[in-house]
This record gives sequence, structure tokens and C-alpha cells, in this order.
Amino acid sequence: MRSTPEMVTAEARIAQDQPLAGLVSWTVWIPALAATMAYPIAVNLFVDSYHAAKVGSAAWSLSAIAALAVACAVPLLALRGLNAIRLATTYQAIAVRRLLHLAVAVPPLYLLSGRVSGLLSPLFGKAASAPILWWGIWLALAVLVWIGGPGRAGSEPRPAQTAGDGSQQRSMALSSVRVRNIHRTAVIAIVVTFLVMHLANHLVALWSVSWQRATMLALRSWYRAVWMEPVILGLFVVAALSGLVRLARLTRSASDGFRVLQTASAAYLACFLVSHLWATLGARYRGIDSDWAFATGGKAGLLASGWSMAVLIYYAFALLAVAVHVGLGLRMLLLFNHVQPAAANRAARLTVVASSLISILIVAALVGVRLGR
Ligand code: HEM
Repeated sequence: MRSTPEMVTAEARIAQDQPLAGLVSWTVWIPALAATMAYPIAVNLFVDSYHAAKVGSAAWSLSAIAALAVACAVPLLALRGLNAIRLATTYQAIAVRRLLHLAVAVPPLYLLSGRVSGLLSPLFGKAASAPILWWGIWLALAVLVWIGGPGRAGSEPRPAQTAGDGSQQRSMALSSVRVRNIHRTAVIAIVVTFLVMHLANHLVALWSVSWQRATMLALRSWYRAVWMEPVILGLFVVAALSGLVRLARLTRSASDGFRVLQTASAAYLACFLVSHLWATLGARYRGIDSDWAFATGGKAGLLASGWSMAVLIYYAFALLAVAVHVGLGLRMLLLFNHVQPAAANRAARLTVVASSLISILIVAALVGVRLGR
């Protein structure tokens, strides 16, 4: 198998570092887990305090800012934990790493848990209520990680892939390269055929909602065409499944800072897509027009409309995850094509910064900022 620059710059360099053995400190994951448990309270407090601040005292504004900070801290605390154990390869570190990837994706997972609870409540009553489902699942995951830790096996490094003979190892490496290439091709096709125009369409709302609507109707004739829509949705399914296979593999081994960001943004996007498609395609199925007003809870934007402003955090991190995932994917592609690492890093940084600036403008449009009519 050809040795690629990607392997040289990431896997080989990582392998030169000493993988960390021993138990993962509780400070790596318990703060992120505690913040995850507090997420529903923080989101509800944010919404209530924001609306109270419109008619009440300044204390409500402070309360809204503090609650928003706690809600946004969850993915950031999880990222901090992931970075702290990026070289660890013990069984417990792998379990903690996977738990923290889920914690990064808390905003979409919280919305998903509400939807699942809505489905299960008629069958199981209060036992399937949103808070019980949320806290129950996270507690169960925490117990699983905890019992995988204090035991001797948990603190020992996972053996390198020595199982099987050389040809078995070669075929495993080859299938991993195949999955990576499938993932890359699907993501590039998604960006070109849908994502750029989808996000550009949202940007138009910064000028005016009627222009956004006109653009959306024009674009629908492309992405909702009978022959095109299944292709686009199929590409998302392929990208998500191949991405999850890559994620399962990459969370087993040591990684560098770039890879931490790459896998964390992947975890977020996978969960976001399930929730987003459930909401948008579900609305269409129920005969509701999934237009701008649907996405933002009304023409005045997310901040004007009751609880739907809670999705602001979910959208903002999704846009950031796209910026990071595409920027770092571009870096890998450039390294693969023998571009100097310094130039590839610069291109990635530039892409992430430029996309993040566009994301800020889209968030402004979502909260109701209008530069035109
Ligand atoms: C600010 C963030 C976003 C907002 C407000 C938003 C909003 C929407 C809306 C309103 C629709 C329905 C479109 C229509 O009825 O024509 C939609 C569909 C969709 N969105 Fe998003 N979206 C956002 C981000 C994303 C991201 C980051 C992705 C992918 C990574 C994505 C993937 C999709 C897909 C696959 C569809 C279904 C397209 C179809 O109708 O077949 N969206 N979104």
C-alpha cells in the first residue's frame, strides 16, 4: 500500500509520541458530563431569562448570558477533555473519548431526545419523559465508562493491532483507506451539489426574507427534483455511515490536535443531520412548508419566538462544525497531494476563519438582523 503524506503527518508522527497509559483523570470527563446533565436546565433558563429580560430587570439579562455560557460550555468542555487524552490508548481512554464525542454533540442530541421522548411517551408515560430519558441515558453511559476504568484492564494500553498475520493487517489497512476515500468523495459531492447553495440561501435572509424565499424556490427546482433529491439524501447517508466507520476507528488510537477537531466536528454533524432531517423532512411529510419561517420560528427570527430560540445554539455549532470539518478535510487533501504541511495548515486556517465569518452572518440572519427590506 502506498504511504500517503496524510499517514506521515498524522499517524506516523503520532506513533512517535509515547501513548499514555494509566487511568484517565476524572477531571478530563466529569466536568463535561456534569455540564451535559445541566444542559436542559441551562437552555430553559436561557430562554426564560431572555424573554423576562425584555420586560424585566437587568438581572434577567445577566441570567440569560450566564445560562447561554453554560449551554455553550458543554461542547467546549468535551473538546478540552478530548484534547487532554488525545495520546492515551487505554481501554478506559477509548471509552472516555467516545463519551466525550457524544458530549460534543449535546445540542442536536438534546433535540433528538425530545423527539424520541415524544414518540415513546404515549407508550411508556412519564418513564419516557424528556428529562428522565436525557439524564437516564447519560447516567447509564457514565456508569459504563466508570466501570471500564478502575479495573486493571481499563488502565492498560490497548494492544496495537498485532492480531492476525501481515496479509490480514494489510487488508484491514486497505479497507480503511477505501472507507476514507468513499467518505471524501461523498463529502465533496455534498458540498458541491447542495451544501454551498443551501447555506448561501440562508445568507440571503440577512438581506431580506422575501429574497431568501425567492432564492429557495429557485434552488428547490434543483435539490428537490425527483431525480436529484434521492441522490443528495443518498450522499448524506453514505457520508454519515462511512464517517461513523472512520470515527469508530480513529477513536481507538492516539491523535493530534487537528484530528481531535476533525472527529469532534464529525460527531456533531452526524447527530445534527439526524435531527435536522427528522425536523425538515418530517415537516414536509405533515404538509408544513419547511421554509425560513419554519426554520426560525417566524419571520422575526429565532429570538422573537418562544422556545424555538433554543435551536440557536444547535444551528450555530452546526455551522461551526461544517467550517471546521471542511477546512480540516481540505488540509488532509492538500497533504495527500504533496502540498507542504505549512501551506496546507494555512489553507485550512483560512477556510475555517472565512467559513466561521459567514456562519456569524447566517446566525445574525437567524436572529432577525435584516440589512435590506
Ligand atoms: C443555519 C443552519 C441551517 C438552517 C437554518 C437550515 C434550514 C433548512 C431548511 C429550512 C430546510 C428545508 C429546505 C426546503 O424546504 O427547501 C433544510 C433542509 C436540509 N438541510 Fe438544512 N439548514 C441548516 C444547516 C444545514 C447543514 C449544516 C446541513 C448539512 C450538513 C444541512 C442539510 C440539510 C438537508 C440535507 C436538507 C434536506 C434537503 C431536501 O429537502 O432534500 N442543513 N435546512
